[in-house]
Amino acid sequence: MTRLRQVEGPDDPAILEAAEILLAGGLVAFPTETVYGLGADGLNPKAVAGIYAAKGRPATNPVILHVDGLASAKALTSHWPAEATALVERYWPGPLTLVLPASEMVPAIVRAGGPTVALRCPAHRIAQALIKAVGRPLAAPSANRSQQLSPTLAEHVASSLGEAVDLILDGGPTEAGLESTILDLSGARPRILRPGPVAPAELAALLGAVDLWEGALKLGETQPAPGMAERHYAPRARLELVDPGTGLSSLGGRSAYVALGTLPPLPDSIRGILLPLDAEAVGARLFALLHELDDAGFERVVMERPPAGEAWLAVRDRLQRASARERP
Ligand code: TXA
Ligand code: MG
Repeated sequence: MTRLRQVEGPDDPAILEAAEILLAGGLVAFPTETVYGLGADGLNPKAVAGIYAAKGRPATNPVILHVDGLASAKALTSHWPAEATALVERYWPGPLTLVLPASEMVPAIVRAGGPTVALRCPAHRIAQALIKAVGRPLAAPSANRSQQLSPTLAEHVASSLGEAVDLILDGGPTEAGLESTILDLSGARPRILRPGPVAPAELAALLGAVDLWEGALKLGETQPAPGMAERHYAPRARLELVDPGTGLSSLGGRSAYVALGTLPPLPDSIRGILLPLDAEAVGARLFALLHELDDAGFERVVMERPPAGEAWLAVRDRLQRASARERP
């Protein structure tokens, strides 16, 4: 049985136990402010290999290293541009991941053989206490099987990864509910690879200009990061996006309709779910809702397409990938 331990705070003895497991090469899932991460000692290639095996993650998809701050991050890079310091001062600890040229300290498996490393300093106090107790960077992707829904509760981790994880630290629901913004600083111009809680406009204000990788909005582009797979974050139910108020007539079977702002009249056989017209609130709730609908056995989920506009960028990105069909 996978062990799930409720953690009351940063001084909880479960954190020391978790650190011992990590230093011995084991896997520990832990909460961050975005989603739960599946952690391993980021400087131990064998331990990191365990992450890939547990998730069924392709070896071509690199993982993020979680650090306790600026000094540790710098040691993992071969070049640290001035704008990285400005970003770290403004957003760390927090949901911003920076991609930079890797130093020799970073094992090849963490980089998936590439020249760069992704770095993030999480704001969650249990994550921080764990990194401190281990005294080394923690490699941690989201704690779910590859392509499945990201976990925002410890129970989601247990049901997705089960026996593959040695210990799950339960810190309750995560706050942001969507993964960190990934900003690539290794190229000629800063570029957002994955939209998240830190908005492009905020980054542009600080950096002067920032590109948004096209594939973050459109599917079918060549991918700069292999993890930006078209089908991703996927529930078991078939998820479809519709314009508000449409698509109702085709609904049948075990279906749910997720509305934003106002719930239209629905046939009795359809479960209606109302989310507020508020991007942050929807982001916080989205993965947990899809987990619940899967657990309740819904076969189809029809959700209203979120409005255009930057505030909804991260939610739109996740929904687009979650609803993408497998290509033959
Ligand atoms: O909020 C988050 O970022 C969560 C929590 C646990 O920290 N982590 C997370 O990790 O979402 P993961 O592995 O599920 O998503 C990380 C993404 C992947 O798409 C991966 O391809 C990309 O980051 N990535 C990692 N290293 C990279 C690199 N060196 N260059 C470009 N992309 C990279
Ligand atoms: Mg993930």
